Order: sequence, then C-alpha cells, then structure tokens
Amino acid sequence: LEPSTDGEFVLTMQAGRTEFQPGRPTPTWGINGSYLGPTIRVSRGDRVRMRVVNRLAETSTLHWHGIRLPARMDGGPHQMIEPGATWTPEWTVDQPAMTGWYHPHLHEHTAMHVYRGLAGLIVVDDANRTGLPGEYGVDDVPLILQDKKFEDGGQLEEGGVDRGTWGVLGEDALVNGTLNARFAVTTEAVRFRILNASNARVYRAGFTDGRRFHVVATDAGLLRQPAEVDRVKLSPGERAEIVVRFAPGEQVVLNRIGETARAAGDPEEDDFDLMTFVADPRLEPSPPMPAALGGPPAVPPPPGARVRTFRLSGSEINDRDMDMTRIDEVVPAGAHEIWEIVNESYAHNFHIHEVEFRILELNGAPPPAWQQGPKDTVFLPKGAKARLSVRFNTHVDPVAPYMYHCHILRHEDKGMMGQFVVV
Ligand code: C2O
Ligand code: CU
Ligand code: CU
Repeated sequence: LEPSTDGEFVLTMQAGRTEFQPGRPTPTWGINGSYLGPTIRVSRGDRVRMRVVNRLAETSTLHWHGIRLPARMDGGPHQMIEPGATWTPEWTVDQPAMTGWYHPHLHEHTAMHVYRGLAGLIVVDDANRTGLPGEYGVDDVPLILQDKKFEDGGQLEEGGVDRGTWGVLGEDALVNGTLNARFAVTTEAVRFRILNASNARVYRAGFTDGRRFHVVATDAGLLRQPAEVDRVKLSPGERAEIVVRFAPGEQVVLNRIGETARAAGDPEEDDFDLMTFVADPRLEPSPPMPAALGGPPAVPPPPGARVRTFRLSGSEINDRDMDMTRIDEVVPAGAHEIWEIVNESYAHNFHIHEVEFRILELNGAPPPAWQQGPKDTVFLPKGAKARLSVRFNTHVDPVAPYMYHCHILRHEDKGMMGQFVVV
C-alpha cells in the first residue's frame, strides 16, 4: 500500500463479498477490499500516520501486532473505532526489520472480526541489507495462513467461531485469502514471510517431500544465523521468515501435519495441504544464503532481574479474567524482566504487546536454534512452561495499558488477557 499524498496510509474496514469457491460468493470483511488488507511497508526512522476508517456496522479496533509504539496508538481494546468513525494513530518506527501484522482487538469480539477477514501485514525495513531475497511478490512473498469451514453453498461457516473450547477449527486452508493457492516460482530461492493469522490452529508447516529450508527470522526480527529445519511450528499470531530453494520445473506442496496423540478437535491435530508451488523450467539465479543475517543479538537479563509468573488455566491468567478497568502489572520504563509462563491446562500461547522477548527456556531447556530469535508470541503446548527474557520500551503512560494474552482468539475473547502499563 502506498501512502496518500499527505503521507497517510488509508485503511478502510468494510463489508463485502468474496468468492473463495468460484461462483459462490460469501459475505466477508476486509480492509480496502473484500477480504484481508494490503501489506504496509515502513522503514526504521519513518514517521508514519494511519487513517483507519470504520465503514462496518460494528465497532472495531485495529492493533499493530509486533510494532513498538505508545500504548494509545496500539489499537488494543481501548482504542475503539465506532461505525463511521476514523482513528488516526501515528508513531515513529523504531525497531529492527521484521514482519508484523494488523488485526482488530475489540474486547470479546476479536475472533469474529479476524475470522471474517480483517487482517494484513505490516513489514518494517531497516538499514541492514542482508542479501536475502527481497523483491516483494517475486522472491519475497507473504503467506498468511488461515483455516476455514465452508457451508455447502460456499458460505463461510461462522456459527462455531464464538463457541466451544477453540472456536472454529477448519480443514480448508486459505493462503492470502485464497483456497487451493498456487505460487509460480521464478527464482532459485524464495523468502516466505509466514504469518499464522488463524483463530486457533497451530501449524507444523513443511513440504510434502521433506525438503529442508532455512528459517531467517522469527516474530520480531532476523536471526543471527540461518537455522536449517524441515518444519516450523507456528501458533496463532506467530511469524517465521523462511528461505526455500526450488529446482527448475518442479512442483511441491506445503502442508501441515498434526502432532500425534492429540485429541480430536485440538488445534495441533489434523493433516491438510496448504498450497502448491510450481517452479518455472528456467529459474533466475538467487544469491547464496548469507552466513550471518545481522539480526539483533540476544541480551541476557541482568542479574537479579525481576521475575513475574503467569499461570494459564482454562481461560484465565493467574485465576483472573480480563477486566478493562484493572491494571494487572506495572512495569518500569526500559525494564528487562523475566516472565515465566506456566501452562496448567490444554494448548495456549502467550503474546505480549510492544516488547521484544527471547525464549530462555521451554520446559527447562533452551528452545531449538530457529526459535532463539526475537519474539512477541510463544506457543505453550499442554502443560508446558516457558521462561522469557522480556525487554520493555520507554513509551511511558501511567493510564493507557498494553495487553498480554493468549492469541487463540476464542480464549482471548473469553477473558484470557491482562493489562500492563509502562511508567
Ligand atoms: Cu495480535 Cu493483542 O494481538
Ligand atoms: Cu499484539
Ligand atoms: Cu489459550
């Protein structure tokens, strides 16, 4: 998306119709279109201003997930945009290169707003020129993963979104809003910016031929070195940037495979295909994988760093439901703390607004190399425990809070969220 002549990015939330299945339009919501929204690209140091227009019949909000900014610009549950109203947050981009995203965050109604289609990418560039593939849409390609359920007539099934333990778990994959998506590969190597924008699904994504690829970035930025894997596991809200090499003329499928021994209806269960890649018979040469990516180094927490513990149960954090009028944690500006997340129940994840964190330990051990990069969301399988090294910002505001929450949207809506202020 290009900014308007007065330097604003104009984002209009609107209702429309989308033909996921040919000839079978279904009502959806989108931003500047009928489903999903444009990719916004900003650079470190830019002053950016958004003009978010709500043309829906319902109140919503627009949150910049992964973007470091003052709490009043964050687009959380407190920055409501009434039908017909416009909200114009602005901030100075001050963070390393990363792939973020935007989505509504209306208290108790995030699941339906995202399910209907309100989401898009916001990419931050910085002066670090990594030598990674970088031509948008050619060899630098977003993959927004979402699972859906369709009714027989092709309509999006919405009935389950606000019900049950998980809301809807579908077996039909949309990639960038497209069912049975295909991508024509024209270069030897392609960088994919993968976002799990699903309500509850956890994707263990990889290729059906088992090929290995490199992870080059996690949620909040680049790794120090590429990490080779054959699958990446992403829970709702998480991102990974990967670089995949293709052979001329080949065809290969990206799929997800479930974890074994998961109960039916668990977000980690089920196998299904996500999309197909079709490589040209002649591929443009790509640069070799750089040995160093220039990602920000992990800074260990200082001795005596404050430790806060968050226990996750069915849909509460530390035995409490979200209360818009209660501040749960007060964090000093610029603090570097250890947050311990203890999952006492089934699968959850934990997202913290406006921070960069590192996973120090998952169940007592350091995470795999590819998960050692900068993060803002961490997956906690049933009974898991994570220790996070969390660095806070200096956007002081004793009144306006930031959120931390489970990003399984059904859980978030049920109150699995808390608020902190930076003072
Ligand atoms: Cu992506 Cu608080 O959210
Ligand atoms: Cu967020
Ligand atoms: Cu949860």
